[in-house]
Amino acid sequence: MKDFRDQIAFITGGASGAGFGQAQVFGRAGAKIVIADVRASAIEKALADLKTEGITAHGIVLDITDRAGYARAADEVERVFGAPPTLLFNTAGVNSFGPVENSTYDDFDWIIGVNLGGVVNGMVTFVPRMIKTGKPGHIVTTSSLGGLMGSAFAAPYSAAKAAVVNLMESYRQSLEKYGIGVSVVCPANIKSNIAEASKLRPAQYGQSGYVENADSIASLHSIHIHGMEPVELAGHIKRGIEENQLYIIPYPEAKDGLKKHFDAIVESVLPLEADPEGARKRVEALQRWAADRARVFSKGDNQS
Ligand SMILES: NC(=O)c1ccc[n+]([C@@H]2O[C@H](COP(=O)([O-])OP(=O)(O)OC[C@H]3O[C@@H](n4cnc5c(N)ncnc54)[C@H](O)[C@@H]3O)[C@@H](O)[C@H]2O)c1
Repeated sequence: MKDFRDQIAFITGGASGAGFGQAQVFGRAGAKIVIADVRASAIEKALADLKTEGITAHGIVLDITDRAGYARAADEVERVFGAPPTLLFNTAGVNSFGPVENSTYDDFDWIIGVNLGGVVNGMVTFVPRMIKTGKPGHIVTTSSLGGLMGSAFAAPYSAAKAAVVNLMESYRQSLEKYGIGVSVVCPANIKSNIAEASKLRPAQYGQSGYVENADSIASLHSIHIHGMEPVELAGHIKRGIEENQLYIIPYPEAKDGLKKHFDAIVESVLPLEADPEGARKRVEALQRWAADRARVFSKGDNQS
């Protein structure tokens, strides 16, 4: 997609940080913006800012972990703008840091629930609606550099963000035939309010093994104050959509670490000479299975 005029962009977490940067950049490029965020007052402020720029924008209070709420939000977009989104930004996210061995079920359930579950809900809600319009579209999900390698201090977050990378790889393969592109953004550091995320933690996930207090929040702010400006990041995302890139990682400082990490994975694979016959049989079996599945699904027999 290269022309954003009159596209409908649904942006989760659009009231702050990376999501608000997306609202500004795609709004300036002519898209109609839907800001979906859990914080009503932040939505109001974001909408007022967008409107002063002449950007058409609508706000929806949505907790992305609420599936029924998500379906209502999708209906609302169609009522307000007359059609489902052609641009979906799964941007909302939360984090919390502590040693992995201290992590509680509540730490896992909250962090994975928002960062992975929220993205799943966005995809299950919107992908069928986007396909049905028959229009070209694009989906951008915000993961993290943490999603490309494990982290002793942000394990549930990293695990959720890793799953999101993998999920976008899968959707990309499937949605190409509908003219819907899929990208995943892996930021390193954004100038945002994510340091305040623990304030959004629902009471039902109150048992944490981490330490969250004014000091820990202040120390996170001291990192994010040096992060990339959201509008700059959104500019990279816009180029990523225009060029239909799968991975959008506009952080050159990440390159050496990523190379080392993925080289270690590739180098752990046995060389082909170790078992050429076994490898050939395994590949052929997989290809037969994939061809068979493709045949079944092309007949529309999804139950097989
Ligand atoms: N800040 C960074 O350095 C950094 C680095 C890598 C990835 N990310 C990712 O970028 C994305 C955007 O975060 P940000 O840094 O702009 O933070 P931010 O806190 O400024 O913005 C996140 C927005 O998401 C909203 N939100 C949180 N939980 C929600 C929920 N359950 N339902 C709906 N909205 C919800 C918040 O209200 C907030 O407005 C997140 O997915 C985050 O994990 C951030």
